[in-house]
Amino acid sequence: MSQNKLYLNPKNDLDKRVESLLDDLNLEEKIRLIRGKDFWTTEAIKRLGIPPFGMTDGPLGVAYHSSFKGNRTRFPATISLAATWNKELAFKMGQAMGKETKQAGRHQILGPGVNIIRSPLCGRNFEYLSEDPVLSSDIAAEIVKGIQSEGIASCIKHYLTNNSETKRTKISTEISERALQEIYVKNYKRIIEKSDPWGLMVCYNKINGTYGAENKNILTDILVDQLGFTGHTVTDWGAAQRTSGASACIKAGLSLEMPGSFILSRVYKKKKVQKALDSGEISEEDIDNIVRPLLRTFLRVGLLTQDRVSPKNIIDNPEHQAIARQIAEEGMVLLKNEDNFLPLDLNQINKIAILGPNTDTRFGKPFYGGSSAVVPPFEITPYEGIKNYVSNKAEIVSKPEEADVVFLIMGLDHGGHFILNLLLKREGDTEGSDRTTYALPDDQEKLIKETLGKNKNTVVILVAGSPINVSKWYDDVPALLNAWYPGMMGGDALARILFGEVSPSGKLPVTYPKKIDDHPAHKTERTFPGDLDKLKIYFDEGIYVGYRYFDKRNIEPFFPFGYGLSYTEFKMSNIQIDKSEVKRGETFTISVDVENIGKRNGAEIVQIYLSDEECSVDRPPKELQAFEKVYLELGEKKNIKIELDTSAFEFYSESEHKFKAEDGFFTIWVGSSSRNFPLSTKIKFQS
Ligand code: BGC
Repeated sequence: MSQNKLYLNPKNDLDKRVESLLDDLNLEEKIRLIRGKDFWTTEAIKRLGIPPFGMTDGPLGVAYHSSFKGNRTRFPATISLAATWNKELAFKMGQAMGKETKQAGRHQILGPGVNIIRSPLCGRNFEYLSEDPVLSSDIAAEIVKGIQSEGIASCIKHYLTNNSETKRTKISTEISERALQEIYVKNYKRIIEKSDPWGLMVCYNKINGTYGAENKNILTDILVDQLGFTGHTVTDWGAAQRTSGASACIKAGLSLEMPGSFILSRVYKKKKVQKALDSGEISEEDIDNIVRPLLRTFLRVGLLTQDRVSPKNIIDNPEHQAIARQIAEEGMVLLKNEDNFLPLDLNQINKIAILGPNTDTRFGKPFYGGSSAVVPPFEITPYEGIKNYVSNKAEIVSKPEEADVVFLIMGLDHGGHFILNLLLKREGDTEGSDRTTYALPDDQEKLIKETLGKNKNTVVILVAGSPINVSKWYDDVPALLNAWYPGMMGGDALARILFGEVSPSGKLPVTYPKKIDDHPAHKTERTFPGDLDKLKIYFDEGIYVGYRYFDKRNIEPFFPFGYGLSYTEFKMSNIQIDKSEVKRGETFTISVDVENIGKRNGAEIVQIYLSDEECSVDRPPKELQAFEKVYLELGEKKNIKIELDTSAFEFYSESEHKFKAEDGFFTIWVGSSSRNFPLSTKIKFQS
C-alpha cells in the first residue's frame, strides 16, 4: 500500500480523505464493511491496511464482556452523574472512559445513553440522564467531548424513543411530531451541536410504525438534514433483524449492522446486499452514502494510521477512581434531613447498625444490570465504606435497638444476570425489563417499619437507578438519602456524605411522583408499558414529559425535578439581564449573586427556567434552559453569569415543521429547583 495516499495523512481535509479512501475500496469491500465480523468488531480490509474497528459497551465505564473480560473503573450510574449537574465532571468521566477504551484496544465506546427518562419504571433509567432534554444534553455533550478528546469515538444511544424496555424489539412508539421534536429530537440536537459525536446507535423499537433501523425520516431527514449529524449510525445489537431488509435500511441511511452474528444480524449479509443491488432496488451510490460516515469515523479515530494497542487486562487507576468517587459524592441527593439529623458527628456516636439488602452488595459483576456491566478491580460497598470510615471510633452492631444510629441501605434489585432475567422474565432495575411497581419490595417496606419500631434514629439510603415511592415511611425517618448506584467507590463516598466530610450537592434529574398514576407516562396501560397486543406505546402526554406535566396540571410531586438538600444554605439575589429586548440570533446574559449563608462549605445549582407569557400554542409553564453548579465556602458570595441565545424562546411548530419563537415577553425564573424560584425578571423577544 502506498504511503502517499491522501487519506493516510491526518493533516489533509477530512472529507477529502474520506472520498479518497472510498475511491480505493471496491464494491465487495464496501459491503464487507457494513456488517460486523463478530460481536465487537468490523471486518478488516487487509488490501488497504484497514484493521478491524473495535467497539466496547458503555456507558458506566468500559464494560467487561466487550473488552476481553478486563477489570476497569466502574463509575456510578449515569443518572447519578446527571444528578451532580456538574458539566466538568461529565467531561472528566468521558475522558477517563476514552482513555480506558483505548487501553482496552477498542476504538469506540457505546455511550453515553441519552434516552429521555420518560417513566420512573424504565429498567434502564440508571444508564440514562434525565427527564429534561437540556440537562440530558448538556451532561451528555460533555461526556462525548471527554471521550473524543482521547481520539475515541463516542456512540450516543439509543436513537430514538427507546424509553422503556418492555417488548423493546417489537413495540412502536406512537408520538406526535411536536413531542418527538421538542423533547426527544431536541436532546440529540443539542448534543450534536455541542459535541459532534462520531457515532450513534439506532434503537430496537419502531417510531410511528417504522423500525428505527429502516426509518429514513429519523435517520436521514431528521438526523442528517435537520441536525447536521456527521458520524456513522450503527444498529442496536440485532436491531435490523426485524426490518423489511437491506434495501430499506441502506436507503434509510443505516451505516453498520451489528453484531456479526448469524442469529442476531443477517440483513447486511453480502448475498442479501448483492441481491438488492442486482434487483435495482439500491445502487452502489446508496452503499457509498452509508459507507462514507463509517470511513469518517475510521479516520477520526486513526484506525489506519495509529498502532493497535494490546489490551490491558486490569485498569486500577486511582485518578479515575477519584473521579468515580467525586461523581458518587456529588450525585447523592439528600431528600430529607429533619432538624439537621445529618451529618453525624463521630464523637457523639458509639454504635452503628448497617442493615438492608444493599448493605454489602457488589453490583460490578458480568452482565449485572445488562450490557452496561463494568467489573472493577475492587468495589467498596456501603458497609465497607462506613466501616472503614469509622475505623475504631465506633462499633458496628447488628441489632438496631443497640445502635445510636441505623443506616438502612435499601433500594432496587439491579442484580441478577441480565440474560437469565430475560429468559425467566424477571423484572428488575435492569436492561431488558421495566419495573411493574413504583414501591419498594414489601420485605423492605416491612424492614423499614420494624427497624423504626426499634430505633427512631434510622437513616434510609436508597441504592437504585430510578425514583422510588417513599411515601409510606417518609414521615417517620429523620433523614433520607438517594445514593443511586454509586459505582466502585460508592461506599467511600457514602461515608463521607453521612459524616459530613462533604456536603451533599446532588439535585434530582427526574420528578418523584406521589403515586405512579400522577405521572404523565402512567395514565393508562396504553401509555406505559403500552398496548402489548397491538404492540404500540402511546406517548399521549405529548410535550408534557416529567415536570412539564406536573406544573401544567398543578400536581404536587413528592419531590420536584431539580430538588435536593444541602448541609449548608444558599441565598440567590441581584438578578440582572444585560438586555431588556433581544432580536433573533442574539444572545443575552443573566447574572445572579449566590451566597453561602450557612455553616459549611457546599455547592448550589443555579437553575434557569423560561416561560412564554403568551403564545399561539399551548406551552409548558416553565422549561429549564441552563444551569451552573457553584462551589462556595461558608460566607462566600459569587456572581454567576449565564448566556442564552434566542433558541431558548422556541417551540416546535407542527404547521411549519420547524422550531420557532413568537414575539413577546418571556419570564426568566432563577432558582434552586423546578419549584423554588427566589428570583425572576422579564425579557422581550422581537424578531
Ligand atoms: C443494548 C445496547 C448495547 C448492545 C451491545 C443491546 O442489547 O441495548 O445498549 O450497547 O446490546 O451490548
